[in-house]
Amino acid sequence: MDMHPDLEQVLFSRERIAARVAELGRQISDDYRNGNLLLVGVLKGAVVFLADLMRAITIPHRFDFIRASSYGKGTTSSGYVMLSGQIEHHLADYDVLIVEGIVDTGRTIEALTREFTRSGARSLEVCSFLMKKRARAVPVVCRYLGYEVPDRFVVGYGLDYDERYRHLDCVGILRREVYEL
Ligand code: IMP
Ligand code: MG
Repeated sequence: MDMHPDLEQVLFSRERIAARVAELGRQISDDYRNGNLLLVGVLKGAVVFLADLMRAITIPHRFDFIRASSYGKGTTSSGYVMLSGQIEHHLADYDVLIVEGIVDTGRTIEALTREFTRSGARSLEVCSFLMKKRARAVPVVCRYLGYEVPDRFVVGYGLDYDERYRHLDCVGILRREVYEL
């Protein structure tokens, strides 16, 4: 298939993504076989990853969502993370696995960790599809990680720039001309 013209480079094809998600699903199914797994997807970026991941997990589990925003229309974090939406599950009953699309500064995961710890989650781990190779303001431990990516702005597989490109089935680096005008 032709590359989207706004991409500079495709980092992960649909096939590579599917293979990695299958591996993560196997690993999670194995690790949580004696637990009570609740996936909490971080809206909106993690929606596509979560939908694939839950079907790659073979043990019974549930899912929920939380909304986090910090980027607005830009390509850099404002540093301020806003959480919204209501988790329907009583977290103290669950082994919570945060499902995120990409970790950049680490502030979103920091805010979610604080929130879910306060809610008394039985256990708490992070599964992110992508993580940027960079010095992080806040250290983040991802027990499950799809891939590391260069410190560039990437889109596709749920990740957006100004709400665009989420539907791309690959992950690619966005051309600078698209956002540097
Ligand atoms: P952090 O709080 O800086 O770790 O950023 C995490 C959030 O920023 C993610 O949930 C994404 O919504 C967004 N984000 C960070 N880097 C990118 C990127 O390269 N492309 C698209 N969204 C990104
Ligand atoms: Mg975004």
